[in-house]
Amino acid sequence: MNVSYECCLGTELYTADGRRILDFLSGYCVHNIGHNHPTLVSALKAELDKTGPVMLQTNVPELAGELAERLCGLAGGRISKVFFASSGSEGIETAIKFARAYTGRTGLLACERAFHGLTCGALSLTDGEYWRKGFGPLLPETALVPFGDLNALEKELGSERYAAFFVEPIQSEGGVQIPGEHYLRKAQGLCRRTGTLMVADEVQTGMFRTGPFLASHHFDIQPDVVVLAKALSGGLVPVSAVLMSDDVHQSVFTSFKRSIVHASTFSENSLSMRAGLATLNVLQSERLGERAIELGAQLREQLTEALLGYEMVKDIRGKGMLSGIEFTAPQRLTLRVPFEAFAKIHAAMFGQILVMRLFRDSGILTQICGNNFMVLKVAPPLVATASQLAEFVAAVRRVVDLAHHPGPFWSEALGLAGRALAS
Ligand SMILES: Cc1ncc(COP(=O)(O)O)c(C=O)c1O
Repeated sequence: MNVSYECCLGTELYTADGRRILDFLSGYCVHNIGHNHPTLVSALKAELDKTGPVMLQTNVPELAGELAERLCGLAGGRISKVFFASSGSEGIETAIKFARAYTGRTGLLACERAFHGLTCGALSLTDGEYWRKGFGPLLPETALVPFGDLNALEKELGSERYAAFFVEPIQSEGGVQIPGEHYLRKAQGLCRRTGTLMVADEVQTGMFRTGPFLASHHFDIQPDVVVLAKALSGGLVPVSAVLMSDDVHQSVFTSFKRSIVHASTFSENSLSMRAGLATLNVLQSERLGERAIELGAQLREQLTEALLGYEMVKDIRGKGMLSGIEFTAPQRLTLRVPFEAFAKIHAAMFGQILVMRLFRDSGILTQICGNNFMVLKVAPPLVATASQLAEFVAAVRRVVDLAHHPGPFWSEALGLAGRALAS
């Protein structure tokens, strides 16, 4: 899938050898406003042309204040302060430090199948041996509970040793897992009762990806801390933001002497701040959240209709423009034998062949979930058109149909895997 790209616009990617690829991955939920949105590109060009201060580190950067104000207004609830950083992982690290400072506790709780990033603190809250092996020891006093299990959560939080409960309102890499209607509200109640901060990791789900500004808004929760990254800059400049309540912020910056006790060089640089403001302008003026709800529902309806009756399709789910197609092992012997051969090579083999075929045969860029290999993630830019969605549905149907017949899907892939293992 490593091809040379020459031009990327909206949902479409054009390669050097003349192909057109539809992006249904969005750089893992980075390109919510589409690739190289003209409003964002011209806002960044204008910012550069101004030759203004970018990173003086000694003044109050007004653009950061402007962006923080917009983000707090959109998040609502308890949120009234923002710390800017450059990546999702750095945002999670910030949340870890602030939660510890606020509570005076050291424990950190997260969910099974969670993905919170790969720096040492964030990795301590990311599930999966694959990610963790070889990098220990990670942070002590961390634990994982099954996502959606209130009893397990209550039991852990009851120890009153956790500074924070980190949760993705919808688990993205975990397989586009949507919690039961009341889980997050009850989890919030448990956090409040036990003096634990609730940190919503909205790195993939925020910025209108699932419809509202935050996926938390679907579930009527008011987290103490929210981490945003990826789509915040429209995909052109690295930036992340940690949104929090006033008292959490105050617990770190307690005095003038401690005013730079947590900081980051690129934190409030004007290009990132301008990118954030321009991205919000596009998301709001083009009403991309409403569009995500409408087109996302249509997409899942069409997928359900197209994939009905295929035994390996277990579920189609999602919210807004974040959807997952979950596959399961086939029952039919003629398919089960090659499926098991695939699984023996690598647990992700089946999904990767789907992804490769979608790319090669139909010009569709996708990926399977990083912590759930049987789920194909469907996350196009929020500007994707109805006809591009229909093109995707037809392509998925073709590849799923191919996988339901003994033949090239399986034999070609087994040959490829054999060659890879032999080399
Ligand atoms: C939910 C979630 N949190 C945190 C991160 C880490 O973000 P970054 O890769 O910008 O460090 C990711 C990255 O994929 C993510 O999906």
